[in-house]
This record gives sequence, C-alpha cells and structure tokens, in this order.
Amino acid sequence: HPVAVFSSSFHKMPSNQARVVILGTGGTIAGTAATAADGVGYDAAQLSVQTLVAAVPALSEVPLECEQVAQIDSRHMSYALWQLLAQRVAHHLARAEVAGVVITHGTDTLEETAYFLHRVLAPNKPVVLTAAMRPATALLADGPQNLFDAVQTALAPGARGVVVAMAGAVDHAADVRKRHSYRVDAFDSGEAGPIACIEEGRLRLLRDWPHGAALGLDGVAHDPATWPRVDLVTSHAGADGAMVRAMAATGTRGIVVAGTGNGTVHQDLEAALREVQAQGVRILRATRCAEGGVVGEAAGALPSAGTLSPVKARIELLLELLS
Ligand code: SIN
Repeated sequence: HPVAVFSSSFHKMPSNQARVVILGTGGTIAGTAATAADGVGYDAAQLSVQTLVAAVPALSEVPLECEQVAQIDSRHMSYALWQLLAQRVAHHLARAEVAGVVITHGTDTLEETAYFLHRVLAPNKPVVLTAAMRPATALLADGPQNLFDAVQTALAPGARGVVVAMAGAVDHAADVRKRHSYRVDAFDSGEAGPIACIEEGRLRLLRDWPHGAALGLDGVAHDPATWPRVDLVTSHAGADGAMVRAMAATGTRGIVVAGTGNGTVHQDLEAALREVQAQGVRILRATRCAEGGVVGEAAGALPSAGTLSPVKARIELLLELLS
C-alpha cells in the first residue's frame, strides 16, 4: 500500500490551490553510492521522494504533495505495482485541485510503465514520468534537474497525457525508448521527435500533446496474479521453435516476436508461432530494429505490431487479453 508523505508546502497550501502530486517508486534517481565518483556501483531506490524534492530548493515555492508508492529498482517492476500506480494516478487526477502528477521511476522499465499508464488512463491532465541515469550522490547528479523539469512540465499550460521528462526533453509515452545504457540523455522518441524542449523551466512546444482513448481501470482491476502470461521472443540467425513451444506448454496466452528488419521471422520460429497460434495463443509481430515499425501487412502474415517496440507490443497484447 502507498505510504503518504506530505511535503511541508502541503501544510501551508489552501485546500483548493492547484498542486502537483509526486509519486515516488524508486530507481537510480533515488539511488546512493559509497563515493560520489561512482556512477554505476550504486544501490537504486534508497531515498524517499520527499528527500528528492528537498534536494531541489527551487521546488520549495511550488505547491506539491509527495507520496511514496513503492521503493524499487525498476527492473523488478511487477503487475501488482502497475495496478497500484494506475489506481493512485487516477485517484489524484480526479481531484480538482491537482494540476498533474509526476512519477519518479527507474530508467530501466520507464518506457513500459509510461506506455501502460498511457493506454489505461490516457489522461486529460499531465502525468510526467522522470528518472535519472546517475545516483543522487553522483558528482553531477541529473535527478534534481529532471525532477524540477518534470514539475514544470506538469504545470505547463495545455499539458496533458502520459509523457517522460528527461535531459531537457519531453517525450510521449508511445514513442519514447531508452536508447543508451549509460549516457544522461538516454531517452528519445526516434523519428517521432520530442513533444517539447525544456529550457530554464519553460517548455518550447514542438508538436501536440498526446491524445488517445483510455482503456480504463476495469480491465486491470483483477488480481495481478491472474493476469495472462505474454512472452517475448526474438528472431535471429539460427532461431528455432523450441522457446515458443516451451512458452505454449507453460500456458502463455500471447507471444510478441521481435522480428528482423520489417518484422520478418526465421522460418523455423515462424512455423512454431503458427502452430501455437492455431492452438489459441495470440501473436504480435514487431521489429527488433531501433527505428521504424513493421510497414505493410502481406496477406496471411502474422499480425503486425505496427510502430510499437517489442516491449510496448507486449503490453498492448497483455491489455487486449485483459479487456
Ligand atoms: C532502475 O531502473 O530502477 C535502475 C536504473 C535506473 O534508474 O537508471
């Protein structure tokens, strides 16, 4: 269950004053290392969201509420936490006095959480995920600036939808991917480009804020232990059908194949995918290429994931199976 931690500015706030709610979930942004020069040998998810806010003096004048929803390294993200997070975000967005929600998150599964929230909630208000590539103890930590920018994004006039604010850019949940394992500007939207640049706390809009239809919370209200298994397999030289048959044997309900090039699949892997598809397993075919999607759909081809990356196609299939 979420632990509510209210910042001091909350206590001074008139009850109807517009505010931003910051939900903490852990990640490197809340990480600490033994020495300031250590940017990789750190423990993620150590500092409370209130501590992260306190490290940004410029936020002291902004009406904020903080809530610690979880404290994890995001590689361990679970369906139970996704369900809880979606519920907490929906709860706060429904409050008239809340202008937007910021979520501090680990970078490793950030694009998955963003896409999940985008499809489930498609909010009219902004939900801004942010993170850091360096721990809070680093010589030049990126977390405080990212957190400041995320709050400015949540307060920006006209802001809406689930977006990611990192390294001076605002990206849409549907497009953003972590593309670098180490650099501070690890995220981008590829060919789609960012929604905005954040410069000195102000947004320079480059394209429209996201719109979309929400699937709603009902589909994700069931016990997460009962959510269907959806697996991911990659096509590659020397691929065969063994993994796919093993997945089907253990009860998977859906498989995303990250194909080569324009979503092409090794013939032995494809034969197994068609075999399990005939048994009722849902298949989606994405591309393992970092840019572009699966273009066109030849007659009889396995269903295309379009422009969705393999991990986002997996969430799409999961949500389809849940609805
Ligand atoms: C995590 O994803 O929680 C750890 C890595 C990071 O935040 O960069």
